[in-house]
Amino acid sequence: MNPSHILVVGGSGFIGRHLVAKLAAQGRHVLVPTRRREHARHLISLPRVEVIEADIHAPGIAHSLLQGMEAVVNLVGILHGAEGGPEWGRAFDRAHVQLPRLIAEAALDAGVTRMVHMSAMGVTDAPQSRLPSRYLRSKAAGEAALRSLDGLQCTILRPSVVFGADDAFLNLFARLQRTLPVVALAGAQARLAPVWVEDVAQAAIHLLDEPGAVGRAFELAGPEIFTLQELVELAGLWSGHPRPVVALPDLLARPLAGLMEILPGEPLMSRDNLDSLKLDNVPSGPIDPLCGIQPRSLREAGPAMYGGSLMTRLSRWREQAHR
Ligand SMILES: NC(=O)c1ccc[n+]([C@@H]2O[C@H](COP(=O)([O-])OP(=O)(O)OC[C@H]3O[C@@H](n4cnc5c(N)ncnc54)[C@H](OP(=O)(O)O)[C@@H]3O)[C@@H](O)[C@H]2O)c1
Repeated sequence: MNPSHILVVGGSGFIGRHLVAKLAAQGRHVLVPTRRREHARHLISLPRVEVIEADIHAPGIAHSLLQGMEAVVNLVGILHGAEGGPEWGRAFDRAHVQLPRLIAEAALDAGVTRMVHMSAMGVTDAPQSRLPSRYLRSKAAGEAALRSLDGLQCTILRPSVVFGADDAFLNLFARLQRTLPVVALAGAQARLAPVWVEDVAQAAIHLLDEPGAVGRAFELAGPEIFTLQELVELAGLWSGHPRPVVALPDLLARPLAGLMEILPGEPLMSRDNLDSLKLDNVPSGPIDPLCGIQPRSLREAGPAMYGGSLMTRLSRWREQAHR
């Protein structure tokens, strides 16, 4: 397979910037649409990477972006979406169901059949499985929409929480502990298997090139399982500001999350995020060898990854990633 011209939708995000850099380093040509060019500024200087400001939802845009492409990767995802509209809400429906379908239909129309689509751990192939959150249910509906398209050679990835020097997740908890005397944590006992962003990018490329991956879904996870509370404590420890982490009972956590949803800006935690945490974010078995990765240990990587200033951490990451 080894496509040489690839459209990466959502390529400006956390996982996207690692994937795009890896693809470009392999000599492939990558086109990244973004709603705001500013969001993809870190990609603009990379060789063989073209960033284009475009509204991928607008009629005809996906089709024209797909001209000359040999494959498409869809990484678009959101964590919060208001209720209303379909069962999982309009925003989740637009980003997780309508958009993958629109991209895949445009790809088929443009003669591009190969697609890699980023879903999330917890989603399964069983259509009747009852998932606890609107986020997960919309991700499942997105997968189902892609599976229903004849002729599409799609591979689905389902990562657990993804870590890296520039992640939003552990860095947020490290930052909070720099300023707060104590962290009150909802969903503290949820179990997660954090997977390194470079492993996710590597697996995505490996599977994109692998004919045996067509029509299949792959879980991506790291080698260790932590509770959310352990992860938050480690983030504080590694960043040099360990604080007591207190587990909030659900009875208090839900109204607090509801309050965060109505405050301006992205909520730190929504009620739907709490619902997602009801399902353990751990793989159902060993990582499939077809993914071509030996997942890195967060426990080993964490102290160097989250210690020191962001600049120090980013330069350490560049060294590790041979950039
Ligand atoms: N990070 C994790 O721990 C994790 C775990 C499991 C699954 N995933 C999944 O992996 C994928 C990538 O995650 P990430 O952490 O890299 O996300 P991210 O950093 O938030 O990036 C999201 C990307 O999606 C684009 N985007 C967001 N909303 C959009 C919309 N309405 N229309 C068009 N584009 C939109 C953004 O592009 P612009 O702003 O440039 O337009 C951005 O490039 C997502 O599908 C996510 O659900 C992530």
